[in-house]
Amino acid sequence: MTTLAAAKAASSPAAGQLIVRAATSADDVFVDDLQAIAFGPGRFARTAFRVREQFPIDPSLSLIAEVDGTACGSVWMTPISVDGLKGYLLGPLATHPNFRKRGAGKLLAREVAKLALARGEGQFVLLVGDQDYYCPLGWDITTPGNIQFPGPVDPTRVLLLAEDKSLAKSLKGEIAAFDPEA
Ligand SMILES: CC(C)(COP(=O)(O)OP(=O)(O)OC[C@H]1O[C@@H](n2cnc3c(N)ncnc32)[C@H](O)[C@@H]1OP(=O)(O)O)[C@@H](O)C(=O)NCCC(=O)NCCS
Repeated sequence: MTTLAAAKAASSPAAGQLIVRAATSADDVFVDDLQAIAFGPGRFARTAFRVREQFPIDPSLSLIAEVDGTACGSVWMTPISVDGLKGYLLGPLATHPNFRKRGAGKLLAREVAKLALARGEGQFVLLVGDQDYYCPLGWDITTPGNIQFPGPVDPTRVLLLAEDKSLAKSLKGEIAAFDPEA
């Protein structure tokens, strides 16, 4: 017979284990505070923020990293399109300073990209970030200047993940709405 405690233990992560789960409205304050800590007051002037002002994030692609029931990281996704091809802009990605270097950031980036692309609607996950961090996870360098953001970006930081590996070099155009008909 399985006791209630044993059943709960079987479905619970081990102590200290990092997990990723869907964000809920109960996480809003944590995510706000985390983004303020990670990016500071200048975050509202960032070009990626301007994209999110124009096109809403998809809350069903907001994930939280958690250890022992304590939220420690967050990632958002914004559905977009470039040259009529649907995809997503990943970010902000942040891990609380007390929980860094435990794999939360990479787990969040990998999981949110997998979740989004598995829907079969979007073909790529774009982001503005460090090559050293994201390229080992599968992101590729885009052709500098090809993808136009609503503000300045360092073109060497514009990275793209897609099943079609040629897309990083070939995708060209302005960031637009995911669904132009919507
Ligand atoms: C970047 C960030 C999300 C990483 O979170 P994390 O949970 O510590 O990441 P992980 O544990 O998965 O990976 C840590 C590793 O990545 C390295 N790393 C962290 N930031 C890096 C960067 N910008 N470039 C290259 N490597 C980086 C760490 O040194 C560490 O290396 P190690 O494993 O050899 O010790 C976190 O530092 C953060 O929130 N930073 C502020 C916000 C930010 O810059 N977000 C990314 C915007 S693109």
